[in-house]
Amino acid sequence: SHSFSPTFLPSSLSVDAQTLQNQIDELSTFSDTPAPSVTRVLYTEKDVLARRYIKNLLGLSGLSVREDAVGNIFGRWDGSEPELTAVATGSHIDAIPYSGKYDGVVGVLGAIEAINVLKRSGFKPKRSLEVILFTSEEPTRFGISCLGSRLLSGSEALAEALKTTVDSQNISFLKAARSAGYAKDQDDLSSVFLEKGSYSAFVELHIEQGPILEAEGLPIGIVTAIAAPASIKVDFEGNGGHAGAVLMPNRNDAGLAAAELALAVEKHVLDSGSIDTVGTVGILELHPGAINSIPSKSHLEIDTRDIDEKRRNNVIEKIQQSAMTIAKNRGVKLSEFKIINQDPPALSDKSVIEAMEAASKELNLTHKLMISRAYHDSLFMARISPMGMLFIPCYKGYSHKPEEYASSQDIANGVKVLALTLAKLSLS
Ligand code: GLV
Ligand code: MN
Ligand code: MN
Ligand code: MN
Repeated sequence: SHSFSPTFLPSSLSVDAQTLQNQIDELSTFSDTPAPSVTRVLYTEKDVLARRYIKNLLGLSGLSVREDAVGNIFGRWDGSEPELTAVATGSHIDAIPYSGKYDGVVGVLGAIEAINVLKRSGFKPKRSLEVILFTSEEPTRFGISCLGSRLLSGSEALAEALKTTVDSQNISFLKAARSAGYAKDQDDLSSVFLEKGSYSAFVELHIEQGPILEAEGLPIGIVTAIAAPASIKVDFEGNGGHAGAVLMPNRNDAGLAAAELALAVEKHVLDSGSIDTVGTVGILELHPGAINSIPSKSHLEIDTRDIDEKRRNNVIEKIQQSAMTIAKNRGVKLSEFKIINQDPPALSDKSVIEAMEAASKELNLTHKLMISRAYHDSLFMARISPMGMLFIPCYKGYSHKPEEYASSQDIANGVKVLALTLAKLSLS
């Protein structure tokens, strides 16, 4: 339990909800698609401008700013005992194509406001407090989810892979990183790794991205576990040819192989028997992509998740079996079946859950314990630090689309609970 002797009252914590809303709105203008959609992809001009905006705010809050070789950004408020391990909070600001302005952003701008709240209240941290902006939580550009936090958590496999990773335009990760001012004179990104135990706690504030809190009228969700995500890339190669002249018995249609595999993904997911198993084919590309040409190549990217890792892995095996069978039956080549990531789930830490629960209670904000079906940088921070996550309601659970919305009041509540949680963890 926490030896928390408050030098201030929870009632002295006041969130500047209007300024925070203005910042959320302003950040959303760094986008490559028109409002209300947001598209902000790793190391693009808009991403670099958004990063500059955040670094400026970190400085205005009196934090000392550091960036690592892939652009994870850290803003530190030194505690009275700076030799103790720090307490960290943060999230991401990259946004998938045509998404909204709250995913990730609430956990970055909200973290900075939580620091401001504590400073205004006169609070003095014992353990240092750190705000982290994680690089590329979204897999949009290089196909790798939680790139920054995965690397921070010490993934040797990722550090190795990034030496040769390219995007869809064949631009290398290192070239893209350098264009944004990172990875300057190093190809080896293991400098980004943090040791296990680098933080005494990590807390991430995020919109729920699901409908439960809003439906139940609850202001705060406390995450107990994050579901296990996996992603797979598949390529089929057939013969292609003229859409009029090649008769049906003589075709090896790579597009139909992809279509059949997409349906097989749905079937295997539903066959798991659990509502917690999900699968999505979010990318399906046909080559050459002409109405009168039989697809000679197809490319699929498959996302599948479950709170139960074994059940999720079983789905992956069945998808692979189907891909092989479909290729055989259709006379096409399964030229690639690549599991990009197959991550285990993560559990929140008891001590962080307790601090979040106590903070909610003291602020008279009702909470619910829940799982996160979306993944977050917290999935990887849990490998090097005790982890916890705070959820706030969002409109109809909408996320990853422009209609995503969270009210200023709900955001302010989340920031308040975050601030008090950080204060407790800092003094523990
Ligand atoms: C995060 O963006 C996710 O896809 O869960
Ligand atoms: Mn997202
Ligand atoms: Mn997110
Ligand atoms: Mn491919």
